[in-house]
Amino acid sequence: MEKILILDFGSQTTALIGRRIREMGVYSEIIPGDNALDGEALNGVRGIVLSGSPESVYAGGPCVDKRIYECGLPLLGICYGLQRMNTDLGGTVAPLPKREFGGIEVRMNTDKKKMPKKAALHALPLLEQLVPREDRPLWNLINGQKTKDSFTAWMSHGDTLVQLADGFVEAAVSATGYPAFVYHSEKPWFGVQFHPEVSHCERGAEILEGFVFGVCKSAKNWTIEQYISQAVERLRKQAMGGDTRHVLLLVSGGVDSAVVAALLLKALPPEYIHLMYIDTGLMRKDETNEAREALQKLGAKHLHIVHAEDEFLNALAGVSAPEEKRKIIGDLFITIQEREVAQLGIPGNYFLAQGTLYTDMIESGKGVGKKAHVIKSHHNVGSPLVEAKRKEGLILEPLDCLYKDEARAAGRLLGLGEHIVMRHPFPGPGLAVRILGEVTREKCEILRAADKVFMDELKRRVSSRGKTLYAEIWQAFAVLLPLRSVGVAGDGRKYGYVLALRAVSASDGMTADVYPFDPKDLREISTAITNFVPEIGRVCYDVSSKPPATIEWE
Ligand code: XMP
Repeated sequence: MEKILILDFGSQTTALIGRRIREMGVYSEIIPGDNALDGEALNGVRGIVLSGSPESVYAGGPCVDKRIYECGLPLLGICYGLQRMNTDLGGTVAPLPKREFGGIEVRMNTDKKKMPKKAALHALPLLEQLVPREDRPLWNLINGQKTKDSFTAWMSHGDTLVQLADGFVEAAVSATGYPAFVYHSEKPWFGVQFHPEVSHCERGAEILEGFVFGVCKSAKNWTIEQYISQAVERLRKQAMGGDTRHVLLLVSGGVDSAVVAALLLKALPPEYIHLMYIDTGLMRKDETNEAREALQKLGAKHLHIVHAEDEFLNALAGVSAPEEKRKIIGDLFITIQEREVAQLGIPGNYFLAQGTLYTDMIESGKGVGKKAHVIKSHHNVGSPLVEAKRKEGLILEPLDCLYKDEARAAGRLLGLGEHIVMRHPFPGPGLAVRILGEVTREKCEILRAADKVFMDELKRRVSSRGKTLYAEIWQAFAVLLPLRSVGVAGDGRKYGYVLALRAVSASDGMTADVYPFDPKDLREISTAITNFVPEIGRVCYDVSSKPPATIEWE
């Protein structure tokens, strides 16, 4: 299949590049940036994007197979990707006196002396995207005539090009004076210092489109229907081809594992599919029953619900450190799973299926390029059992190329109910990372009750756009703080817990903005919570975006 190849050097936004390109209806694939680019690897490739990286080219940053510069394909270097190209081709890169981060103005370079004598025709489709439509034709721009010539790009870099490699032209410069957009005067090679894949980057989508359609001449060939039929085909080959056929899937009640369950049940006979749901006691209200119903509706034959609330709460007693909680939960999950599997009598060489998404892989430092820095450990990617199964080739991760919204679209097509498909994401460690400090049964009950009131309120309130607030918000939840504060209840003094509400707009959780509630909604939600959950004395709203905060509090 035709595709745009993305070389991953470890940027936290590599997955976003792939996502943006797929949103345009073009298949994109992310591979480690230092993979060999021999014949096979370039099959069907229309163009290559070189991603950003947390590293520096002059300090041992990841390399690229030099054949990239001989393959004749269009190249687009983003941030580190541009610096990599520039260095490999003889230019130089140096550290900035001060790291640049966030929205920075980028101006078209109208200095005639810096422009090539003749406009580079091959560069037009991309260069055109740098100016608003009403300000074209581009000829004016390239020939140095006046035009509305700036936009706010999104930067995140500590290094800059100081000397351009031979043949490169500086087409735009940042307000801080550094090359922001360069192209080669003869070859279809481009580089941007900013991140066009980030949604706050003005003209970002147009620049990627200019590259994908204008320069690479890609066709729109990517649909979720197609992905489903390929995934079903792949699952059949993987699971039915050898001497093992049994598949175990741990279902969580969330959309990702439900979509995997639906895919498995579409691809394989239901008697081989073992769905296991472990109730950790850290689930949302009614989650276990809802999961049971949805899976039964899909035609599951072997659905095994394990009640392990006591085990988890005992193991977490006295533990406050977030990563320690994650590890305890992850390890116990595996122990219980192994014990239960042994009891069920599933043959030892079973496949383990997981609802891992692209973004899970990247955020866990297990990214497709394995270069991303670890931010939080997500136990479904890194556990010893998963690693052992991975080594044996017994892992099935049919969503590992999908972004959250693509997984949702697949779920819808596979017949999952809207309440499952549109369910907000929920972390594997559940309420344990939303109860700051030590987790106790009492705190779980309080948080579960408060969270339910919050969710019910979001589901019944409608925005000015006619959608429920729940549907408008990407992820919302309540966090129980290890704090109590003074208040009054009736005639008495009350010493209640402080609850923080979190609600974010995002497209996949890589970056997130605070949801701008109508203050009246917030006030009423707060009242509903304190009325219904007497242990809560005070409600706060978290107004931090990601970055710098993360979505979860722990
Ligand atoms: P953060 O907090 O890293 O969250 O901004 C990004 C997305 O990931 C979810 N998340 C987790 N999911 N195990 C999971 O399966 C985890 O340990 C974990 N931590 C965060 C979070 O809910 C958000 O959707």
